[in-house]
Order: sequence, then structure tokens, then C-alpha cells
Amino acid sequence: KTHNSKGKYRVVVTKPLVGDVWLETLLRADCRVDQCLSERILSRAELREAIGSHCDGVIGQLTEPWDDELMRVLKSAGGKVYSNVAVGYDNVDVAAATRHGLAVGNTPGVLTETTAEMAVALTFAAGRRIVEADAFMRAGKYKGWLPTMFLGKLFYGKTLGLIGAGRIGSVFALTMARGCHMDIVYYDQFQNEQLERKVRETGSLYQQLGERSISIRRADTVEEVLETADVVSLHTILDASTRHIINAERLRLMKKDAILVNCGRGPLIDERALVQHCRQHPDFRVGLDVFENEPQMAPGLASLPNVVVVPHIASATVWTRTGMCTLAAANVAAILRGEPVWNQPDV
Ligand code: DGY
Repeated sequence: KTHNSKGKYRVVVTKPLVGDVWLETLLRADCRVDQCLSERILSRAELREAIGSHCDGVIGQLTEPWDDELMRVLKSAGGKVYSNVAVGYDNVDVAAATRHGLAVGNTPGVLTETTAEMAVALTFAAGRRIVEADAFMRAGKYKGWLPTMFLGKLFYGKTLGLIGAGRIGSVFALTMARGCHMDIVYYDQFQNEQLERKVRETGSLYQQLGERSISIRRADTVEEVLETADVVSLHTILDASTRHIINAERLRLMKKDAILVNCGRGPLIDERALVQHCRQHPDFRVGLDVFENEPQMAPGLASLPNVVVVPHIASATVWTRTGMCTLAAANVAAILRGEPVWNQPDV
């Protein structure tokens, strides 16, 4: 669909987006917008075709491989900017874009709380066996209360482990720690002083109130987090150094009844190793929003009762998706107007 065929700049949008503000933003910046309204994931050939012989900017998706080849195609069509409707940008070769003189945008900030809340939801769903119990009810199997039925995990006073303590990890950790009085152990290349201060201040407030205090500690190694934590949540970016940061060997270090949650990127976990581990340890519980070979799941994963899976929807609220789409458009508009991009990944 074409919006404003007389616009000065041609912008390609590869998917239906959420809300109206993104389009208003582009129209105000004098753009002609060619949008693909199919929900299907576009192939490389279709992306090339969509760029065509002239294209000033693209608003694309994390499902598309914006690598050197596509950046070259975009550049030769006169492109100035590629804008990803996501905070993660492992699908974008930022270095290649920079080499070709293209700006890259992403959408941090607007999805922090929403994504953290999904990590909380998956933690509870996995730990309290919500999906299994729901299926049991719907199958008409509930014949009356039993002390032994669907025993799950208590979070109060336990230890929460974070791999990656950036924006989303911090909000997740604070929500769990403040809500369930959990202690935090985190691994991150940087010390998160703000998170540490918030936890210390909450801890002393709890102490004054006569409630269980909470603490925070930065671990020197990933292993230390895995060995100590009752819940481990992954919030690190995906790159060569974090691919399979959770592998068979590291899974073995975790408590046999721990919970592992991933709302980051699928390849952070060796999914085949995870299936093996879950088979061997029925008390080990997992909540996954993302998958190693999305949209596929590793063989056997879907039939494991100790795993809860959702289709990469951690940022899926109307408010957040509207914000992401708006920000993606604002990044394009800024570049086309010669202003600095609003949000760009670190190169
Ligand atoms: C992102 O933004 O990186 C998510 O995976 C989708 O919200």
C-alpha cells in the first residue's frame, strides 16, 4: 500500500505496524510510504524488490537479515537509513551499514517494562505450573483438592540471577526482588550502580518495616550466578560472545529445581541441550519467549511439561508496540531531515 505518493522521500515499511503516529510522523517528514501489508516474513529477494531502484529509508523487522548485501542494495538505491522495529539488532550488520554510510535506528526504552513484565509472567507460569494446571482443568481432570497436586515453587526469599543487568534486566529484577523479597546476584560486564542503590534502599526500607530485607551482589562469572540462583533470567544482547551462553555444561551447574527464563534472544541458549536437561530434570522449569531457530522449536521442546513457551511476544502490548513503531518512524524522519537519529545501536 502506498501512502502519500507525492512525498519527497521514499520509505519502505516491510510489515503492518501498530497505531497511527508512525505514519503521521513519516507523512509530516514529506515521505511517500510504501508498506507491505502482508504478515508474512519477507524473503531476501522480496526485500530487494521492495527497496527497488530508489529508496531513502527502510523500516524493517527483527525477522529480516539486514546484512552487508541488503545494506549495499539499500545504499545503491540512495538509502540513508535502516530503522529496526526492535531494541535488539542482532539481525542488523551495523558495521556494514556504517561502512556504506547508512544510519541505523532501534527502539530502546519504550519496551523495557513490558518485556520485564513478560519475564515475570514466564517466571510465575513456569514456577507455578500455570499452563499445565490450566490444561488439566480444561480436560475435566480436576476431581477435587489434593495436598499433592501441582506443587510449584515459592519465590519469597529466594535468589534471583540475572545474566545481563541493563534496562530490562534491572526492571525485571526490581519487580521480582521487591515483590517477592528475593536477593539478586547478577553478571554483567558493567557494574549497575543504580540498580544496586535501589535494591539497597528497598532493603533498608523493608528492614525498617520489619520485613525480610533484600540484597544484591555482582558476580565475577556467569557460573557463579548459575550455581547460586533459584531463578535465572537472560537479559543480555546476542553476539558472538553470548551465543550459547547457556550450554549443556552450564545447565549442569544450575540447581536441579531452578527456573530459567529467556525473553532476550533464542540463541543465548543451546536449545537441544536444554531439551536434554529438562528431560533429565523434571523439576527444572523453563519459560521461553524466544527460540534458537525462530519460529521453529528444537525437537522435543514442545512436549516437555516443565517448559512454558510463547511466540516472542514479550513486548506485545498496544502501548509498547505503538511506541516502538513511532520511534522507528521518528528515527527515519530525523535522518531524512538531517537531524541525528533518535536511537541508534552502539557500533
Ligand atoms: C526487541 O525489541 O528486540 C524484541 O525482541 C521485540 O520487542
